[in-house]
This record gives sequence, C-alpha cells and structure tokens, in this order.
Amino acid sequence: MTITYKDDQGIAGMRVAGRLAAELLDYLASFVKPGVTTNEIDQLANDYTTQVQGAISAPLNYAPSGHNPYPKAICTSINQQVCHGIPNDKPLKRGDIVNIDVTVIKDGWHGDSSRMFMVGEVSVAARRLCLLTFEAMWHGIVKVRAGAHLGDIGHAIQTFAEGHGLSVVREFCGHGIGRSFHEEPQVLHYGRPGTLEPLRAGMTITIEPMLNAGRREIKELGDGWTIVTKDRSLSAQWEHTVLVTENGYEVLTLSPGCPAMPAFVGPLAEAGAPLP
Ligand code: MF3
Ligand code: CO
Ligand code: CO
Repeated sequence: MTITYKDDQGIAGMRVAGRLAAELLDYLASFVKPGVTTNEIDQLANDYTTQVQGAISAPLNYAPSGHNPYPKAICTSINQQVCHGIPNDKPLKRGDIVNIDVTVIKDGWHGDSSRMFMVGEVSVAARRLCLLTFEAMWHGIVKVRAGAHLGDIGHAIQTFAEGHGLSVVREFCGHGIGRSFHEEPQVLHYGRPGTLEPLRAGMTITIEPMLNAGRREIKELGDGWTIVTKDRSLSAQWEHTVLVTENGYEVLTLSPGCPAMPAFVGPLAEAGAPLP
C-alpha cells in the first residue's frame, strides 16, 4: 500500500474520527479505578462508540496477516504489557498503570489514540514513566511539518527517552492512517535526523511511542496479541493521530480530557483547538 494524501474532504473526515477517538477516551477515563475489569471498560467503549457516536470500533475482529482476529473493541495494556493487551475479567488494582488504545471508524475514516491511566496511587517510577512517555510523544509531534523527515520524529523521541534512561520499543511503530487502520508510512520512534520519507501536507500519521523502564526487548504472549517486556519492566505508551500541514501539524485526537500539552510545545504550534 502507498501513502495516501487527504484532500479537504478527507481532512474533514479525519478530524471527526480523531475527535471521536479522543472523546471516547475522555468517557472511559472516569471508569478506570481499582476493581473495574478491562472487559467492563471494553463493553463501555464498544457501547459508546456504536450507540452514542454512531461509529465502529476498528480493533474488533481486526485481522492483519499472521494474526488471529482481535477479539475486543479496545486494547488495554497493563504494567509490563507494552501494547495490544486483550481486555479480560481481571480487576484493575491500585498501583497499576494501564494504556487504553482506541480506534474508531466514522464515515470510513479512522481516528487512533491512546493514553496512560494510573489506577489509584501508583509508584513514583510508574508515574515518571507515564509522564516522560507523554512528553516523548510530544517531542516527536513538534517535529512534524511538510519537508521534515520521518527520521526527525524518531530521533527526537529516542534522544529524549534514552536521555532519561528509558528504552524505545522498536518492533512496533506509528503508521499512516485514513480509510485504512494501518497505512504507509511506518513511523519509527527511533532514528536519525534527515533520514527516511519526507513528510508532505495532507499525510495523516500516528505517533505512538512505547517506552520501557528497563530493556527494550519484548515478547509476544501465547494469545497471539499481547506484547510484554522481556525483563518484565514497566512499559508506557501514548498515541495521537496527526495531520501534516505546510507549516506544522494539527493534532486530530485532542479533546477536553486530554492532558495539557507540555510547555515546550509552545503557543505557535498549529495543534488544533486550544485546551480549556
Ligand atoms: N490501535 C493500535 C495502533 O495504535 C492497533 C491495535 S490493533 C488491534 O496501531 F488489533 F490490536 F487492535
Ligand atoms: Co496506531
Ligand atoms: Co492505537
């Protein structure tokens, strides 16, 4: 598959899908607390997406080659789980950190976003990992503009992460997104400045770094989906869907419940509606 460029109509569709993904995360946030199961959150997510948003949960039955169909509406990755954790009947407990990754399809367009949630009070190390991973994502986002290279994004994330003693997962990356869930290009979260594909206005990509507190190596569990750190260290991830513009970027998955952008993002960023 090749890179797709969105025209004004495509951009409008992506804006709506992105906003719905962000609003779904806002909705789910209040349910994340000790005792709730990830299956309950999954059910709430699918009901909200279909009944309130009139949209579709993209992960449900998603079956890229080499995979059995994904059985749930969202991914919930807890503690040492890196990504693609499958919701189940185990209750969340105080001290857990959980990534909720949602992708909604509205009028054929995909919006993809994930956030970290802290369940009750968590350790200092866990909180630090969540916050630094959020900042790492934004260090990548601010590199986005027409003419910049994909390697600029990866380099910014890797430099920031490794500078804070965290490691970058290499086997999974961001991606082009549009009428398909996963399109070209791959958006690596490590790399060298000035390398790889130049960005062009109208591209829509995700930036979704997975950072580990320990070593970067991962393994897949027997369910064929769940990815965990090999050394069982904590892992965190944040994800936004971003439109490339001539002068910068527009983050498509913002909503009132998003954490505020880090100060270094600056007021000139073309980052969508200002947060309340
Ligand atoms: N939402 C994930 C991403 O950011 C992909 C999940 S695929 C699934 O690309 F099948 F596990 F849902
Ligand atoms: Co994604
Ligand atoms: Co996602």
